[in-house]
Amino acid sequence: MSWPMIPPAPDTPACGPPVPVDGGWVVTRHADVVAVLTDPRYVVPVAPGGPPGTLAWLRGTVSRFSAPDRHPGRRALGVAALGDLDPEELRHAAARQTEATLDRVEAAGRVEVMGRLARRVPLEVLAARLGLADPAAAVPAVTTVAAAYHPGADPVAMARADRAVAALLAMSPPATAEAAANRIGLLVQAADATAGLIGAAVRHGLAAPAALGTADLLAEMLRLDPPVRATRRVATGALRLGGREIGPDAPLLLRFDAANRDPAAHPDPDRFRAGRPGAVLTFGAGPRGCPGERHALALAAGVIEVLRERCRPAGPPPRYAPHPTLRVPTNLEVMFR
Ligand code: HEM
Repeated sequence: MSWPMIPPAPDTPACGPPVPVDGGWVVTRHADVVAVLTDPRYVVPVAPGGPPGTLAWLRGTVSRFSAPDRHPGRRALGVAALGDLDPEELRHAAARQTEATLDRVEAAGRVEVMGRLARRVPLEVLAARLGLADPAAAVPAVTTVAAAYHPGADPVAMARADRAVAALLAMSPPATAEAAANRIGLLVQAADATAGLIGAAVRHGLAAPAALGTADLLAEMLRLDPPVRATRRVATGALRLGGREIGPDAPLLLRFDAANRDPAAHPDPDRFRAGRPGAVLTFGAGPRGCPGERHALALAAGVIEVLRERCRPAGPPPRYAPHPTLRVPTNLEVMFR
């Protein structure tokens, strides 16, 4: 099989030593990103919290934005909830729901993947298994919260997200406030990233030969067109990174998209090649790395396997929702075979 080249998405920085930008640093080399993610002297920017049941409360209670002393206990709550789920069962459930959706719309000859499948199936399957009383209603609520979850959301989006958090709490199984928040946190973390991974695999892989395994396709999509392009840390002291002096309190933007194409980690980096050795950083690394990796891959594989069987590409490359760190197509049409 001859593998295609997949060039970087627009705005992907080149790989090199840390670059000072706007009072902080942009980190692009694979080894430097790993060094930061595994060094406790770099911390996640902490969310302050807010009145119970609001978006601010959710952000202040989930492990994702917790200070180092609160992080392990809160992460353990999410990991325990995930431990009850079997990734293989998630994959089958996602495939079944994808089949059913395609059956319903097949007469139209084409289907819009992002709204019908990528943004819906993984969340609905997960919400059902996490015990939410109304998994279908949970999907738009989680999507609304996800849109306001990261710093910098506008006040209208935050007000909408407050109402969505209340709705999600009302349909959650009984639990302590901290356990309920971290259960909802799993869904919110899953939302955009899993949809973006499915979007990338449809965009680049729908026409791939059947001999290419879906797991191999997803692995290279995560490397070459990552749905999570970057994450943030703050230095807690004067630190040295990649030959540069990082000042105390300096913010760092760790660019997974650039680091995944670092030729020192992935030779001939722009070429799609199944089964590459070497770490892909799109799920992060270290004690804050994604605990839902196997679940995300299983859910995406369930959707993609069915789409590869039943559909073929249609239309021009998609447009992407504007976002500082995520890359998720807004709209992606495919045709039935
Ligand atoms: C393709 C899909 C996904 C990608 C690329 C992704 C990526 C990431 C990354 C990069 C982080 C770490 C952020 C950082 O260190 O700053 C993270 C954290 C997290 N992810 Fe995922 N994720 C995905 C899907 C999921 C799914 C499906 C779940 C749950 C079922 C999930 C749950 C979480 C949680 C709870 C955290 C926070 C962990 C902590 O606080 O220690 N993610 N994810």
